[in-house]
Order: sequence, then C-alpha cells, then structure tokens
Amino acid sequence: MTIFIPPTRGDGPLRFAPEIPNTPGKSEVIPADWYTDPYRFELERKYVLNNNWQILCRSEELVNAGDHVVWEGQGETVVITRKNDGSVTGFHNVCQHRGARIVRESGECARRFKCAWHGWTYDFDGKVIGVPDREDFDPEELRDLAAPKVEVAEWAGWVWGVLAGPGVAPPLMEYLGEDIVADLGAYKMEEMYLREKVVWDVDVNWKVVVDAFNEFYHAQALHHIPPQDVKDGREMRIFEFERHSMMVVPLKGTLSRLQETQDHQSVAICHYTIFPTSVFNNNPEHLQLFRAVPITHNKTRFETWELWYKTDDQDYLDRTQRHWDHLKIVVGEDVWTWEDIAATSRSSFYERNFFNDRECKIPAFHHQIQRLIDEGIARDLAGS
Ligand code: FES
Ligand SMILES: [Fe+2]
Repeated sequence: MTIFIPPTRGDGPLRFAPEIPNTPGKSEVIPADWYTDPYRFELERKYVLNNNWQILCRSEELVNAGDHVVWEGQGETVVITRKNDGSVTGFHNVCQHRGARIVRESGECARRFKCAWHGWTYDFDGKVIGVPDREDFDPEELRDLAAPKVEVAEWAGWVWGVLAGPGVAPPLMEYLGEDIVADLGAYKMEEMYLREKVVWDVDVNWKVVVDAFNEFYHAQALHHIPPQDVKDGREMRIFEFERHSMMVVPLKGTLSRLQETQDHQSVAICHYTIFPTSVFNNNPEHLQLFRAVPITHNKTRFETWELWYKTDDQDYLDRTQRHWDHLKIVVGEDVWTWEDIAATSRSSFYERNFFNDRECKIPAFHHQIQRLIDEGIARDLAGS
C-alpha cells in the first residue's frame, strides 16, 4: 500500500508569517452593470475571454493519438486533440465550407474529422484535407485552407488554450507567472486524477461565479461554519499578483500548526484564482477546480472538477470521500445563492456591489477586466 503524503511548501514562497499582512486591499464599490450589461459581455468575449489562457480539459482526457475534446463556451466551439507525436493541438470547430460545426462530440482515437453536412475532412490541426468534388471549387480559395487555430499548451495535468490563436497571449508559463507556477505547482496536479466533475447551469453572469469563490466573508452566514473557524479564518493571508491572486485560509484547528510550520500547502486551504475564469480550492489531500464557462451575459455553466491523488491508502480514500461529499453540499449552497442574484439582475434598484477590504480580490479582478477592455478598445481605435 502506498501511504498518502500531502504536498509541502518545501523551498517555495512563504505565505503565512506574522510580518505578512492579512490583506493588501481596501473597501471598494463597483457598478452593477459590469455584471448585467449584455454589450459588456461582448466586450469581455473579445478582449478578455478569447485573448487569455483558460483551462479547456484534463490531459488525462486525451491519452492516445486522436483522442479529442469538443469544448464549447463563450459563444465558441473548439476541438482539442492529442497528436501522433504526443503534443496537443486545437482548432475552431467551424467548417470552412458553410460554417457547420465539424465535430459534434468528444471521442477517442479519431484519424481525421469529417463534417457531416457535405463531407469535408480535416486533420488534427484543422487543415482541410478532403473536399468531395474538389474540381467544382475555386482552387485558389481552397489552397492551404484550415479552420482557425487555437493556441494550446499543457501544464499541471491541464490542457490550456487561447481561443484567439497563437501569439495573442504571452506563453503560458509567463502568463501564469512565477508565484502561481511555484505555489499552485507544488500540488503536482499532473500526478492527480479526475475523481468527479459536477456541472450546474446557472442564470447569472460568469463573474458572479468567479466572485463566489474569492472571499471567505460569506462562510459564516451561508455555510454556517463554526465560530472558531470564523475566528481562525480572519487570520487568512491574501495575495494579489499581476493577473492572478491567492489566499491561505487556516480552518478546522490548523492555525497553530500553520503558525508553527509556515507550510501552507500541507496545512491550510489555499485558493488560487487564475484569471479569468478558474478558481482552485486546494485542500492538502484533494482539490477542486471551480470553472466558470460563460455562455451569455446572464448564463453560465459552472463546473466543479474534483481531483484526487493516486494512492491505495484506504484511510486517505475514505476520509477524502467523506470530505468531498460534504463539500458538494457546501458548493450547492453557493449555487443556491445565485438564484437570489439572478432575481435582482433586472431590478432598477440594483446599482452597485460594495466590497470590504477582505473581499479585495474581487474588485481587483474586475478592474483587471476593465483594464483589458479599455486597452483593447484603445488599440482598435488606434488601428482603425
Ligand atoms: S458545411 Fe461542412 S462540408 Fe459543408
Ligand atoms: Fe462558498
């Protein structure tokens, strides 16, 4: 039997020490229409969602050459495929003949992809390789024809993509930055496996979903956590990086051990917000990815991906299952509050969100979005 050994900070960055302040932020207000305006959603698609790295699937879903995932969200449909050389590639799932979706479902061991409508075929990179009655088409238009590329890369057992294509975002490691690569990397998610994926379709803007996992303030009222955890939770440490952020939350009697060892990964709950749509909730023994997949300005597919370590340590398996069963109920409570947010989304009297200084990760996240929209519009105006 392999005994489970939790992740550890090792030589990684120090995140919990008396000299590190609880929060870098301050109380702030942002306007309600940042969540509710349909036009703003179109700006976000163009300047934020398509242009940045996002998680598309697990590497373990693409084991063999030809294994592929059809990913759909934010109005886009893409195909991600494991190639014969072991690398991963992706293209927009839009037939270059008359725009039909080429691949309907994820699958295994494909050799090529064929559009069902008129039978055009595509290789794994999206290049058009077969056109029935080719002689009836203008050969110039067919030359080197391909579905637009998605930039893809693998890190930590996840397949990441930039839908706008190669060269739009910085390389993935640079995009994630040293802090995230070191801190989140310590969990070795490439050695974990997907235990379960739970999906909810919710009637709120995608940023409501991201916000929900970016503060601890709601845990007392909504999740009814014990008073000692509320008190210990106030000892949390919040960090804002260039794009992303994290927090370290000592719960369930772990505060004194955390103070003593300063090993946040092996002791505390660590949250990592990866701009723009992912939040990792890392317990030392298992973790969740909370992934908001934007659908429209007021519809989101909310996915919870539960990862476990590979071990036959029965104690680990039993206690992790118990904890995960409990967490599914807790996450359900978060989802339940979104009905109340959906109910006010057209209210004439919902005008703003007002955050305290321990909710600072949320306004920082919204300001980052606003910056990208402003810069994108300015770039377009300069180029036009
Ligand atoms: S639309 Fe795909 S082959 Fe015609
Ligand atoms: Fe919650």
